Amino acid sequence: MTISAPRRSLPRAVVVLLAFCLCTAALAATPQSDAAPPVPDTLQQRVVACTSCHGSQGEGSPDSLGGPRLAGKPAGYLLQQLAYFQSGQRQHAPMEYVVRQLSPAYLRQIAEYFAKQDVPYRKLAVPAVSEEIMRRGEELVLHGDPSRAVPACDSCHGARLTGFEPMMPGVLGLSYGYISQQLVSWRTHTRAAEGPYCMGVVANRMRESDINAVSAWLANQTPPVGMHPQPASARTEPLPGWCVMGSSGVTP
Ligand code: HEC
Ligand code: HEC
Repeated sequence: MTISAPRRSLPRAVVVLLAFCLCTAALAATPQSDAAPPVPDTLQQRVVACTSCHGSQGEGSPDSLGGPRLAGKPAGYLLQQLAYFQSGQRQHAPMEYVVRQLSPAYLRQIAEYFAKQDVPYRKLAVPAVSEEIMRRGEELVLHGDPSRAVPACDSCHGARLTGFEPMMPGVLGLSYGYISQQLVSWRTHTRAAEGPYCMGVVANRMRESDINAVSAWLANQTPPVGMHPQPASARTEPLPGWCVMGSSGVTP
């Protein structure tokens, strides 16, 4: 009682104003400002809110499900995903909550921070599936399924499957559970996209059992040493027209 009494006497407007000032000061303080400590220290401190789930350097939780790997993914891609969580186009309650209050400038800094982290890939659990299922997975990743108009995964994610700067993520080093969960999310529109819905088209054309097959095959591959997304100029195959930003998104 005696402890809470002085608090109660503080006018509510003052408390609200104080909270507002602290909040905006925290958001406005960018590492570029003179008074701020050097960039890495500041950001390292700020990303503590993220590393509890995503690992101290964004290496991801052991099964990727508690928090997928962020380290080394293309910065533009990470930023886009953060924006999707903010707009609710990508649905995941804890993620939507942590990014709700963050400014676009701050999100960009965080995305660039994690994109720059260079940590070894974890050894992932090998899913127990038959050889036949593994073969089907490999077939889809490397050749697609023309009978269902499923394009090969490597036609967009790159022959090395390591993605391209600035927007195309790689598909290696991700767990079976994470990949299959994402493919289901695209089918159910809980992970949507602005503009062309590339992965929605791909995931919806697959058989349900193909989700298991591609996820198992991809999770079973060892990422190349020093895996990084390739520069955009390394792309030899253009993205299909329906998956290009600014296109009508109409699929053949
Ligand atoms: C409570 C745990 C938790 C916290 C805290 C958390 N995340 Fe996440 N994050 C997740 C999970 C789980 C997913 C996967 C969601 C899904 O399945 O769509 C995710 C997904 C992401 C993705 C998409 C990754 C990809 O490859 O598509 C980004 C980017 C991300 N988080 C960044 C952050 C940042 C930045 C913070 C801190 C501001 C943060 N996260 C805090 C659990 C968390
Ligand atoms: C037509 C181009 C295209 C094809 C083909 C394609 N993808 Fe994608 N993929 C994308 C794009 C674009 C994104 C980024 C999606 C976003 O912004 O939400 C993506 C993202 C992903 C991600 C998310 C990575 C992460 O870190 O969260 C996974 C997993 C994925 N694709 C798996 C696949 C698989 C498996 C196949 C083959 C069956 C495939 N993709 C075929 C364009 C493609």
